[in-house]
Amino acid sequence: MDKPVVTNRALFADALAGLRADPKRMNPKWFYDHAGSALFERITELPEYYPTRTELSILRREVDTLSTCIPEGAALVELGSGASTKTRVLLDAIRGLRAYVPIDVSGDFLRDVASDLDRAYPGLRVAPLVGDFLGDLDLPTEIRSLPKIAFFPGSTIGNLEPAEALNLLRRVRAWPEVSAFILGLDLVKEPGILKRAYDDSAGVTAAFNHNLLLRLNREAGGTFDVDTFGHEARWNAEFERIEMHLVSKKTQEVSLGGFSIQFSKGESIHTENSHKYNQASIARAAAEAGWAVDVFLTDERRLFGVAILRPF
Ligand code: SAH
Ligand code: TRP
Repeated sequence: MDKPVVTNRALFADALAGLRADPKRMNPKWFYDHAGSALFERITELPEYYPTRTELSILRREVDTLSTCIPEGAALVELGSGASTKTRVLLDAIRGLRAYVPIDVSGDFLRDVASDLDRAYPGLRVAPLVGDFLGDLDLPTEIRSLPKIAFFPGSTIGNLEPAEALNLLRRVRAWPEVSAFILGLDLVKEPGILKRAYDDSAGVTAAFNHNLLLRLNREAGGTFDVDTFGHEARWNAEFERIEMHLVSKKTQEVSLGGFSIQFSKGESIHTENSHKYNQASIARAAAEAGWAVDVFLTDERRLFGVAILRPF
């Protein structure tokens, strides 16, 4: 047998632990290699995936409200910046912004986006930071004394466990000179709308989920036959979250870096959660972390919310 090739030890170790757990799970941060980031951009353009365009329309409509919460000479720090598409709405409208610090685990993607932004906004200092926003972030020293606005759109906070989300709110609250937190939240709604957003008819979300297995094959010595795993989006009413699963269509054995993983028919790998919030539930979490909801913006159908939090 060929020797399995593990080129990404961190991915391998984390995946092996997750696939040996019961129930099997993966950390969603591994979705975002370059292929995953590109697939995610396609998700944001799907007809069923309402969050991106709804949040964008709220940001555009309320750009004056947002500008007034950003002081002159501030630094905008974005957690999980991706393609920074929404950020451009802010960058276009806000005068006197000194620096933009996009933070993302998808390093190559981040660097491409940052160099585009650098060219597009000549007066702005763009200082990208490759890293895990759940870990210890070393904000660039050049922004240390500047007023800071945290920007966390895309309902990425929903992908965190509630305890992790609270922890993140607390850590951002402790940044020196932090003056506001602009937070995007997908809201609790009719489950049919939610499920379709995570199981689109073109199969792009399925491809995004499957890319995790392809990545294990590419970087962690995996032998997954991706066609034998089905994509499923489930609404968990108790925890108010959409769950993404990869479900084995048969009993099978897969190898990861030479280690055997057994699957029974119908057994799933739980790959991601997307928790849904409402104004009351975010206000509660924010308050526990020392933030008050100053403004809560939403669309006509109350699909999505943008909360502006202030330290208290
Ligand atoms: N802010 C953008 C992109 C959201 S997609 C928008 O709203 O459109 C989520 C982004 O977070 C991805 O680019 C992903 O690479 C990044 N990400 C996910 N988990 C992360 C983590 N733990 N640390 C840093 N970035 C992360
Ligand atoms: N945070 C967004 C959400 O939960 C985007 C996202 C993350 C997503 N992972 C995803 C969307 C997987 C679709 C599938 O909606």
